[in-house]
Amino acid sequence: MQVFLTGFMGAGKSTAGERAAAMLGWPFLDTDRLVAARVNMSIDEIFAVRGEQGFRRYESSALREAARLSQVLVATGGGAVLCSANRSLMQRKGIVIWLRADPDTLWLRSSGKTGRPLAARLGRDGFVQLLVERVPFYAQSHYVIDTSVLSVEETARQIAEIVRKAWPHASAPAVGGRKEPAGSERVIPVPAKPPYEVIAGPGLFRALPQWWGRWEKRPALEYSQTHRLAVVTTPLVWSLWGKELETGLAQAGYPSSPVVFLPEGEKAKTPGQLQRLWEAFTSFHLDRQSIVLAVGGGALTDVAGFAAATYMRGIAAVFLPTTLLGQVDAAVGGKTAIDYAGVKNLVGVFHQPAHVVADVHVLTSLPQTLYRSGLGEVAKYAIIAGDGFRQWLWVHRREVLARAEDTLVEVVARCLEIKASFVAADEHDTGLRQALNLGHTFGHAFEAAAGFRGPQHGLAVAAGIATAARLAQMLGLLDQDGVDGIIDLLRAFRLPTTVRPVDEDTILALMSHDKKSRGRLRLVLPTRAGVIERDDIEEGLIRRALKASCKGVQAKG
Ligand SMILES: NC(=O)c1ccc[n+]([C@@H]2O[C@H](COP(=O)([O-])OP(=O)(O)OC[C@H]3O[C@@H](n4cnc5c(N)ncnc54)[C@H](O)[C@@H]3O)[C@@H](O)[C@H]2O)c1
Repeated sequence: MQVFLTGFMGAGKSTAGERAAAMLGWPFLDTDRLVAARVNMSIDEIFAVRGEQGFRRYESSALREAARLSQVLVATGGGAVLCSANRSLMQRKGIVIWLRADPDTLWLRSSGKTGRPLAARLGRDGFVQLLVERVPFYAQSHYVIDTSVLSVEETARQIAEIVRKAWPHASAPAVGGRKEPAGSERVIPVPAKPPYEVIAGPGLFRALPQWWGRWEKRPALEYSQTHRLAVVTTPLVWSLWGKELETGLAQAGYPSSPVVFLPEGEKAKTPGQLQRLWEAFTSFHLDRQSIVLAVGGGALTDVAGFAAATYMRGIAAVFLPTTLLGQVDAAVGGKTAIDYAGVKNLVGVFHQPAHVVADVHVLTSLPQTLYRSGLGEVAKYAIIAGDGFRQWLWVHRREVLARAEDTLVEVVARCLEIKASFVAADEHDTGLRQALNLGHTFGHAFEAAAGFRGPQHGLAVAAGIATAARLAQMLGLLDQDGVDGIIDLLRAFRLPTTVRPVDEDTILALMSHDKKSRGRLRLVLPTRAGVIERDDIEEGLIRRALKASCKGVQAKG
């Protein structure tokens, strides 16, 4: 569900677009804002340094990124339509709305404004000439709204109306609609040393002053408004959700907090990016009372947490995970790391966050594959927990797939209650936490065999869980119904239960190199009541389970 606003400068794409997104409860992305954050320059500077061609390349890449999101209202730059690939991408992926206005109105709205390098350079005649040249491209949009005599509010209402007609259920409160953040939060205590809590709920980014106030009352943590705070995030996450947070941060007493951008995904988990963070913290004069606020997926919280753990021998990290995997898993438990020498998470420390805030509303923009990847970890928790949570998930599977916010709060809370109980028993992962590794030994090997260019982590874990279930059946730990139940749950979440044919020797070698194997190959296997850890399984059986998973042999025929 993507909506692209096109039109000349001054048509109201950013202002009315943002307002329409707020009316709909949709995420909003301004491609100019994303490009500026990514290149770390203003649009004027990019034009001056990289030229218009350079800017257009960044703009096309930002559009491609927007097109991958699951639900978003996008304000495009005035010249985005000039590129035929951009036009066809927008038309193919969603609804394109042209915000038009007469030349005088556009000129009045644009001239003399910063961030409009073209208007300043062209002068009025050149401005109108350019508009005339672009009109045929804007005219290829699906809808037109003439904003000449409309207020921002009226334009936004018309945009929202078009979107509601196109997707009548998309803005219903239960499925992605923005709700007031009152009453539906869940607080999950994590009994680590020191203990902390996770707040899960819809719309928590905007309600930041509320939960910040709650922490300030806890003497052990004693945050005060004189303490410095630095935000660590990625350009995409900040472009989508930064505005909501900025308002909340200002109200909580942290106006104009410095923001450090890291690359998206695994590219953030490098020694170079870790060093950039230390340098940024130093230049912001962070001290031992300062706070690192990490806003992003698991990769971002892993490296930001590591930087916080090591800067001045450890300062407070507050995590605001923005992916499902981050919310149900990565942000809680204290594991921080970067990748090194080609090995994932090779260098890191345990450093528990001071707080975690899981705003399920931000999951609305998450691309579908990343969402499903998070569901792989959710399925893992359900299987570890045994019947209760698993049955609940099965009953609510449609709401889970539709990302209904109430259901997601419950999903996050239940997964974290399970994780918290393991963290309490084994904070430093010396053995008991091993159960959380269900599906991971196979899954990591599948990921590594594909050179980490294959399926997302959680999808590989799902195939790993299915393989573990088949192996458990061969060992008599599960009967056919037990395997079927697991496979059905994975399939209900559109998760893979088989993998492409793999070389068994390679997978076995990768599994035995798993750093958690501690000398012997240890596998976590599902049983009727939960999971069991075994280190005495014959290689021949593991090969048979791999064969069954590779052949695409499914539990039910
Ligand atoms: N520390 C732990 O205990 C732990 C546990 C599990 C996984 N991990 C780590 O987590 C990482 C994987 O994390 P991940 O799956 O969250 O992905 P990710 O952090 O790699 O993020 C993937 C992409 O999603 C984007 N994104 C984030 N939030 C978004 C949103 N709301 N809308 C749209 N896009 C959004 C990011 O910017 C990025 O481009 C791996 O590095 C893994 O090692 C850590």
